[in-house]
Amino acid sequence: MSGVKELFRRRTRELPAPVEPGGLAAEADGVRVVRGRRAVLDGARIGVRAGEVLALVGPNGAGKSTLLSVLAGDLAPAAGTVRIGGRAAGEWSAPELALRRAVLPQTAELSFPFPVADVVRMGRAPWAGTAREAEDGAAVAEAMAATEVTEFAARPFSALSGGERARVALARVLAQRTGLLLLDEPTAALDLRHQELVLRVCRERAAAGDAVVVVLHDLGLAAAHADRVGVVHGGGVAADGPPAEVFGEELLSRVYRQPVEVFPHPRTGVPQVVPHRDPIAAHIGSHRPA
Ligand SMILES: Nc1ncnc2c1ncn2[C@@H]1O[C@H](COP(=O)(O)OP(=O)(O)OP(=O)(O)O)[C@@H](O)[C@H]1O
Ligand SMILES: [Mg+2]
Repeated sequence: MSGVKELFRRRTRELPAPVEPGGLAAEADGVRVVRGRRAVLDGARIGVRAGEVLALVGPNGAGKSTLLSVLAGDLAPAAGTVRIGGRAAGEWSAPELALRRAVLPQTAELSFPFPVADVVRMGRAPWAGTAREAEDGAAVAEAMAATEVTEFAARPFSALSGGERARVALARVLAQRTGLLLLDEPTAALDLRHQELVLRVCRERAAAGDAVVVVLHDLGLAAAHADRVGVVHGGGVAADGPPAEVFGEELLSRVYRQPVEVFPHPRTGVPQVVPHRDPIAAHIGSHRPA
């Protein structure tokens, strides 16, 4: 009996093999998710490749967070297939999944009174008892430095600002050191500097061979930093490709139901997406009361 237990323990502790660059770290195909009475996703398809930053964009309620949960193996679709690390998502146990993918939820319900360093260290829990437990200290220190939260290490998490908490939550996910990162709006609460910082970290992780999926509302950030963007709309991925190919005025105006203009940045050529706005009439100022 104890032999079986030992075998089971060792099997569940089998360390993940890295996915070769360009290989599929996760994929969803024909995915249908019904919420309430509505099919939020119906026939959704996306592949996530090692060595690449994939940005998921799209309007509120389009299903980006839902698709991310499906790719994480946290939400089983009513139809379709989901594979993580080459195996059906439903076949992994929770501890096995935790070694293979890390998820930053859109709304972190973290209200720990614990010191920041302890919150980040929680990201290492899945590796306890494995050979990679030895990395714990380095992984925590690296993740905190990357998100610029080292100076908060000893402070209670609950005493941080919204953006500071968001960076700590991200540090926890980075410290998990999985080959697949699924980040739901990691930049939503962040200032300009830290938005860039977080996207740079995503790129560094991808350059090191990880697959990174990041949900973004800022199309400029997506255009500048993602290798590929997936536009979630109409129950599926309406367009999927390099930002320069996908970010067209017609598609974005239709999907967001907001006329937009897209033009290349004068220095970098990266697509800039802005809402179409009429110029402020010159006479408005002259009518202002003195
Ligand atoms: N528990 C639920 N019950 C009913 N409907 C739900 C539930 N959760 C989500 N939905 C609906 O599913 C749709 C997709 O939600 P999802 O959170 O995936 O959107 P999203 O693209 O991430 O939007 P946002 O940009 O606002 O984060 C929305 O219309 C939402 O109202
Ligand atoms: Mg969402």
